[in-house]
Amino acid sequence: MSGMRPTGRLHLGNYFGALTNWVEIARRDETFFEVADLHALTTAYERTEDIAGGIRDVVLDWLAAGIDPDRSVVYVQSAVPEIAEMHLLLSMVVPVAWLQRVPTFKDQIVALGNEIATYGFLGYPLMQTVDIAIVRADAVPVGRDQLSHLELSREVVRRFNHLFGATLTEPGALLSEFPEVPGTDGRKMSKSYGNAIDMADDGATTTKKIRSMVTDPLKIRRHDPGRPEICPVFKLHEIVNKPLVPEIALNCRSGELGCVDCKSLCAEKLNAFMEPVRARRAEIDPASVDRVLLAGASRARDVARATLADVKDAMHIS
Ligand code: TRP
Repeated sequence: MSGMRPTGRLHLGNYFGALTNWVEIARRDETFFEVADLHALTTAYERTEDIAGGIRDVVLDWLAAGIDPDRSVVYVQSAVPEIAEMHLLLSMVVPVAWLQRVPTFKDQIVALGNEIATYGFLGYPLMQTVDIAIVRADAVPVGRDQLSHLELSREVVRRFNHLFGATLTEPGALLSEFPEVPGTDGRKMSKSYGNAIDMADDGATTTKKIRSMVTDPLKIRRHDPGRPEICPVFKLHEIVNKPLVPEIALNCRSGELGCVDCKSLCAEKLNAFMEPVRARRAEIDPASVDRVLLAGASRARDVARATLADVKDAMHIS
């Protein structure tokens, strides 16, 4: 089981960092993929009108990436109301201090301001715990930034099972060790930095963005020797152009390969890499997103209803 907030169009950082891993796992295992719109509410409660469009864009990118909605259960969090109910029940046994010491709680208040420090936001990682536990997931593919949430999830599940008897499954994180994808300015690719190449960008836009990328600032003219180890374009080559990496490193260092040619090659390889994703996207009938989410919610609710019933039984609540 894994999830993403409905932040809108996804970028190559989301694709290479998470989605390719999801697709791989979904091929061998039963999987649940959730659009966490209630989690989006915790920080975007003043801009709720953007959430519906964000959900559509995220699901379209998932399907384009190759998530097969017949194999995987794809659904929106708020369409499974059992999550909200179980969140309330579990909240009774989770000490406030556990939630306050999750590093993202303080970090996000520093980053976004005190207005986000609501009761609901404090419960962010508990709601994530319920997302996972309610579908009885044992493995959660996430990035490093989510490890503290998974740690809390395990603690909450252990506490519940200790208090009420073995009911919930303890989840483990499935870390994807993919190198960070650099954005056009060399920082980590991120929507908020404005340095992203979107999954939905066409070939021409992608090429244009690659041409605008920063490279080694000391390599000014073509024959200047470059330092691939600090060059974001080189990092992209390592992702989409593996076999040629040693040769590119050599020719960059010697000065034989200029940045203009290196970028053209990178754009060409990246576009070839994204070709199947673009082809799948072109095949998707946008109206089918609603059908996918309806069917997904129904399948997710079947599992969620059963888990919630177990939780209530264990707690002696009707
Ligand atoms: N908190 C996750 C993020 O920001 C999103 C998320 C919500 C999630 N529910 C989840 C991830 C359940 C894994 C499992 O990326």
